[in-house]
Amino acid sequence: MSTWSPTSWRNKSILQQPTYTDAAHLQNVLERLKKYPPLVFAGEARTLKSQLADVCHGRAFLLQGGDCAESFSEFSAQNIRDTFKVLLQMAVVMTFAGGMPVVKVGRMGGQFAKPRSADTETFDGVTLPSYRGDIINSVEFTAEARVPDPERMVQAYNQSAATLNLLRAFASGGFADLHQVHKWNLDFAKQGEMAGKYDELASRIDESLKFMEACGVTSTTYRTLRETDFFTSHEALLLPYEEAFTRQDSLTGEWYAVSSHMLWIGDRTRQVDGAHVEFLSGIKNPIGLKCGPSMDPDDLIRLIDKLNPGNEAGRLNLIVRMGADKVAEGMPKLVQAVKREGKNVVWSCDPMHGNVYKSSNGYKTRPVDAILTEMKQFFQVHRSEGTFAGGVHLEMTGKNVTECVGGSFQITEEDLQSRYHTHCDPRLNADQSLELAFLIADTLKAARQ
Ligand code: PEP
Ligand code: CO
Repeated sequence: MSTWSPTSWRNKSILQQPTYTDAAHLQNVLERLKKYPPLVFAGEARTLKSQLADVCHGRAFLLQGGDCAESFSEFSAQNIRDTFKVLLQMAVVMTFAGGMPVVKVGRMGGQFAKPRSADTETFDGVTLPSYRGDIINSVEFTAEARVPDPERMVQAYNQSAATLNLLRAFASGGFADLHQVHKWNLDFAKQGEMAGKYDELASRIDESLKFMEACGVTSTTYRTLRETDFFTSHEALLLPYEEAFTRQDSLTGEWYAVSSHMLWIGDRTRQVDGAHVEFLSGIKNPIGLKCGPSMDPDDLIRLIDKLNPGNEAGRLNLIVRMGADKVAEGMPKLVQAVKREGKNVVWSCDPMHGNVYKSSNGYKTRPVDAILTEMKQFFQVHRSEGTFAGGVHLEMTGKNVTECVGGSFQITEEDLQSRYHTHCDPRLNADQSLELAFLIADTLKAARQ
């Protein structure tokens, strides 16, 4: 008998939460949030689940990407549009050059709460609580800024609503029409090698569209040429917020998270008896589970049993984030266990979180080489095991940042200071993201031949 409820996580041990000082204020905010309209509808989460079931069966590829942490200060239409553009470009590269339909999911419209490796941070002899994401406290290094403020949840909700509104408009209002494929190139990236490669591909798409038009297939007659499906996702870390946005679907009577189409469990909060696993086990959305180098195959099977007891395809996405130097050792045993037990999962690769290091001039960065290597190894393991490499999970942005070293623009450690804007982890810029998309497309194409 199931004892799950939207509040049952409260009886479990929980990690990575802020300590709110004013319990009455917190309660007041949560009561308000419970009355706010949902950001997504259960039917949309079911659509995403069925698209992910296609990924599970090797018929589509999952592209999930966006900021490490969205922030209040960087909130603008331009940032949303530019990240969306890069995701569209990547998707079109994979679809056209790789020959696979792509399921597009943003790390957007709610990706605000961050797990931290330490509860406090010390700088020049001063120790303060860590920054936990804009939904909790503020990034400035002052005592006031670091106090968790429940009102931030309301601001995060409002920003998520506005972000989703724009994404929906872009996805269905003509911006994502395949005839616009040349216009998705971002100005600053235009001189780059990748942009050139992209332009060539876009011209081939244009030609194909002209041919199809001559045959009577146009944007007016075919919705899929004119519109795209775009979904949102974030880490379900701040459970009081997620609980307030857990609603019973009026059509099925089942519980859905309505803060986002898809939620995932971070590598630090995936304890099988912990609060986060409990919470996500009861909602019906598609969910993700990060699998870092410490994931043990038996634990993984226990987690799968708890999170997807019906073995439903499209429900569970295993997001492997080992690090380029650990994939070859850490991943095959997980894939083998899942295969042996006959579990239906989507395998996707997060080549970001295992490849962080501190540069000699003090920046947290990631080498594009290591990211490409981890991605290649991920494909290699699946090829050896006869399983399907189903997707990629990225921290990227459409802004012209210098946060990851390497790539076709050859960003060096010295360059990092020029445009290092992230609130949390270093992101791929548009050019570096496209480079990865071409690599994935080539691999998908080779696998089909
Ligand atoms: C993240 O995706 O930003 C993150 C913190 O990942 P992980 O839980 O894999 O460390
Ligand atoms: Co991150």
